[in-house]
Amino acid sequence: MKKRIGILTSGGDCPGLNATIRGVAKACFEKFGEDNIEIVGVVDGYYGLINNETKIMKPSDFSGILTQGGTILGTKRQPYKLMQVIGEDNVDKVKNMKETYKKQKLDCLLTLGGNGTHKTSNLLSQEGLNVIGLPKTIDNDIYGTDVTFGFHTAVDTATDVIDRLHTTAASHSRILVVEIMGNKAGWLTLNAGIAGGADIIIIPEIPYDIDKVADAVMERNNAGKDFSIVAVAEGAFSKAEAEMKKKERAKKRLEAGETTATNRIARQIQEITGSEARVCVPGHMLRGGSPSAYDRILATKFGVYAASLLAEEKYGRTVAMVNGKITSNKLEDIAGKARLVDPKHQLVKTARDLGVSFGG
Ligand code: F6P
Repeated sequence: MKKRIGILTSGGDCPGLNATIRGVAKACFEKFGEDNIEIVGVVDGYYGLINNETKIMKPSDFSGILTQGGTILGTKRQPYKLMQVIGEDNVDKVKNMKETYKKQKLDCLLTLGGNGTHKTSNLLSQEGLNVIGLPKTIDNDIYGTDVTFGFHTAVDTATDVIDRLHTTAASHSRILVVEIMGNKAGWLTLNAGIAGGADIIIIPEIPYDIDKVADAVMERNNAGKDFSIVAVAEGAFSKAEAEMKKKERAKKRLEAGETTATNRIARQIQEITGSEARVCVPGHMLRGGSPSAYDRILATKFGVYAASLLAEEKYGRTVAMVNGKITSNKLEDIAGKARLVDPKHQLVKTARDLGVSFGG
């Protein structure tokens, strides 16, 4: 019987989404034959599922997209915490999503996304839909998988940023403080920081002490190195802030007129050390562009594996890489959990052994 599968990309985009979509589609066409499978693209993630915005995809839609950044399906943020809340628009989002699945006569829905996406995937799975997830995010923080597609490309991009900052920091004898995406997880900052030879790496999992950060800068100055590179994860916070609730922290920052840790760290380093500090925020550049060769291969392997789960009708699962092997986890086992950097992780130790300061 002809299979009809839906596919969506949800949450923040990243390089490798199209490579994954292509991997799923091509493997499905090989497995089932082009005439026995129909792929329905859901536009803009769960938003399209809620509003029944879909498009039938032709085999040719999946050609030439391996190297393309972003997502050909579009994406939107559709926060999980509001999924079961009926707002002023009176839309029952979960009911609508189930209705679209039914109307579109889907046998399965493939969801490409991060932690939020997986929570909604699990919800839909518990509501009786056949769902298979695929782990994407530059943050690399999905529980149960060693790696997510998009991460390695972002590490390459962030490393390139740090490399470029190095030369200008050295020329001007400045402190360059670079803010790297990652609100909860410091994987991207940690990896790019090591690859780019940052002198100080500040991540949310290790709250910093500004005096220790300044000491590290001074030590370099005393050793005749008059510039430093400080890699700061977007979601970093100080030891004092670690004692506060998230709301209190945000309120205090607003009152101080500094909403990001990066700006405050740069100002404080300048004040304490007397060295000139500048901030660089590459922001969404870290999510853009063509996937690296590593991510193209990973995305393809993940996509092809998802097609085999589909053939075996193994639903309620998400694809993962564990100890170098592609496998899958039950959605219910990973949803709502995050994979953060353990302060005792070998990579943290490696950096510390090199003399890199974490400010804590
Ligand atoms: O989850 C990926 C991510 O890029 C985070 O690193 C970052 O905090 C967030 O998305 C930014 O989200 P938005 O695209 O909504 O600004």
